[in-house]
Amino acid sequence: MISIAIGPEVYRPHRTAAERLKSRFGRALRSGVKRLAGPRNPLQPIVPRMCTVRDNELPMLETLVKESNGLSGPIVEVGTLLGVSTTKMALWKSPEKKIITVDLFYWNPWGLTSEQHRDLTAQVLHYLIQTNHVELVVSCKNAFYESYLGEPPSLVFLDAIHDYSETAKDIAWARSIGAKIISGHDYSADFPGVMKAVDEAGGPRQLEGTIWRL
Ligand SMILES: C[S@@+](CC[C@H](N)C(=O)[O-])C[C@H]1O[C@@H](n2cnc3c(N)ncnc32)[C@H](O)[C@@H]1O
Repeated sequence: MISIAIGPEVYRPHRTAAERLKSRFGRALRSGVKRLAGPRNPLQPIVPRMCTVRDNELPMLETLVKESNGLSGPIVEVGTLLGVSTTKMALWKSPEKKIITVDLFYWNPWGLTSEQHRDLTAQVLHYLIQTNHVELVVSCKNAFYESYLGEPPSLVFLDAIHDYSETAKDIAWARSIGAKIISGHDYSADFPGVMKAVDEAGGPRQLEGTIWRL
């Protein structure tokens, strides 16, 4: 049995522990993720698969990465968390393609401090970083956007803050830099801000689960 203590919540017996965590995670993101990560619940189990793309969404992510292999420029992922989606993309990318993954380590659902969160993620990605397949950029995404001088990305995967204004900013940056494939996570009724920003940008040309592609 999975025991999780993130904060007060109404117990709904028809939901699984995974669904309840996903729901709490969604509420935190919808609120704009204003709270800094902190050691509030240090005994909470870390279950990586609960806060990443779902199994039914992986085929689309794989297709996008494989399409990007035929295009120039790196893959830019915005929102690393533990690096779970990063490691999946690394598996599908061509050997010469680089993934730049950006995270401020501002929020995690496990009560880790920002430093603990960053260290854990750096450890998860250690091999990929050391072998130059992945660059982990510890930065606010908006500062990263302002300072980015690299090649236009072949693929941008947006998965950081799931409100309207931040998603709109993410898409605007990806377009301004000439990203060839613009995609992201959490196009769903749980995240109306993502839906609105994506719809205003022309709507998802492709959607699998909650992974969208303009
Ligand atoms: C949904 S998680 C990313 C999940 C990851 N892509 C996966 O599927 O495994 C969101 C991440 O965005 C990060 N984040 C939140 N605000 C940010 C910001 N302003 N700049 C960069 N990263 C941010 C959080 O620290 C968190 O790790």
